[in-house]
Amino acid sequence: MLYLPSRALFHLFAQSTILKRLASRFGMATPDSFARRFVAGESIDEALDTALALRARGLQVTLDYLGESAATPAEADTATRDYLQVLDRIAASDIDRHVSLKLTQLGLDVDRATCMDNIRRILEAADGRDFFVCIDMEDSRHTEVTLETFETLWRHDHRNIGIVLQSCLYRTDDDIRRILATGASIRLVKGAYRETSAVAHLAIADVNAAFLRMMRMLLDHGHDPAIATHDLAMIDETIAYAASRGIAPDRFEFQLLHGVRRDLQADLVARGFRVRVYVPFGQQWFPYFMRRLGERPANVAFVIRSLWHERRTGTRVSS
Ligand code: FDA
Repeated sequence: MLYLPSRALFHLFAQSTILKRLASRFGMATPDSFARRFVAGESIDEALDTALALRARGLQVTLDYLGESAATPAEADTATRDYLQVLDRIAASDIDRHVSLKLTQLGLDVDRATCMDNIRRILEAADGRDFFVCIDMEDSRHTEVTLETFETLWRHDHRNIGIVLQSCLYRTDDDIRRILATGASIRLVKGAYRETSAVAHLAIADVNAAFLRMMRMLLDHGHDPAIATHDLAMIDETIAYAASRGIAPDRFEFQLLHGVRRDLQADLVARGFRVRVYVPFGQQWFPYFMRRLGERPANVAFVIRSLWHERRTGTRVSS
C-alpha cells in the first residue's frame, strides 16, 4: 500500500497562507475549537494544564513549543528566548523536565553557527536542572546537519539530549548505528515529511518493515529508546520482542502524540508500560496540525464535523 496522496496534499496546504489565516481564526478560538484536539493551546499555561491532566492519568509528557523554519537570526533568537522561558515555567511546575524541539526553529536554515549558538543557550539552561531535550527530526534535507549538530553537542558533553530517527529513510539503519555508538537515546518514528523515492521508502509496508527492524536494534542495543507510534501492529511487535528477549518494560518507553489514540495510551499504562505523550503548544501550530490531518483522512472529517456542529449549536463534537 502507498502512503495516501492526501499526505502530499496536506503538505501543500500547510504552506497556504489563506488556510493558515482561516485556521488561526477558528482553530483555537474557543476551548473546544478543532485544533485543540492535537495542540494543547497557544500558551504555556494551557500546555502545563494539559500536561498535568495527562500526568494524573499516569502518562509522562514531553512539551514541544511549536515553531519551525526561523528565517532570520532575529526570529531564531526570539524562539530561543521563548524556549528559555518555557524551561523556567516547566522547572517551576510539577511536570516532567522533558522537551522536544526542532533545529530550524533555532535558526538551522539561517546558518549553522546561529543554530549552534541557540541550541547551546538552551542546553546550558537545561543542564544542571535535569532537563532532557529531544531534537526532533525534520525533512531529509536536514537529516545530516541535524545529526552533525547533535554529535557536536554530544562531544561537548551535553548528555541530556536525544534525537529522533525516521524508519522511512533508507539511510536510517546506518544512522541508528552511528547514534548508538555515542550511547545517546533515540526516538524511533516512521517519519512525517513528504519524501521522494530517491531517499525514502514510499510503500507503507516497507516503512513498517524498517520500523520493526530498527525497533529490534534499539531494544537490543539502545539506551532508553523510545518507540513512537500509534500503530498497534508496531506496538504489539515491540511488546512481543521485548518479552522474547527478557527486556524489562522499564528499559524502553512508548511515545504517542497528544490527542491521538487516547484509548491506546490508557491501555498501555494499565498494562504497566511507560508511556510519554508529546504535548505541542504555541502560536505556530498550523504546519504541525496539517501534518496530523494528512496522516489520517478521518481527522479531516472530524474537523469539518466540529466546525459544522459548533456553528450550528455552539457545542463540541467528540471522537
Ligand atoms: P501510521 O501513520 O501508520 O498510523 C497507524 C495508526 O495510528 C492509524 O491507523 C491510526 O489509527 C493512528 N494514527 C496515526 N496518526 C494519526 C493521527 N494523526 N490522528 C489519528 N490517528 C492516527 N515525525 C518526524 O518526522 N519527526 C519527528 O521528530 C517526530 N516526532 C514524533 C514524536 C512522537 C512522540 C510521535 C508519536 C510521532 C512523531 N513523529 C515525528 C510523527 C511520526 O513520524 C508519524 O508521522 C506519526 O506518528 C504517525 O505514524 P504512526 O507510527 O502512528 O503510524
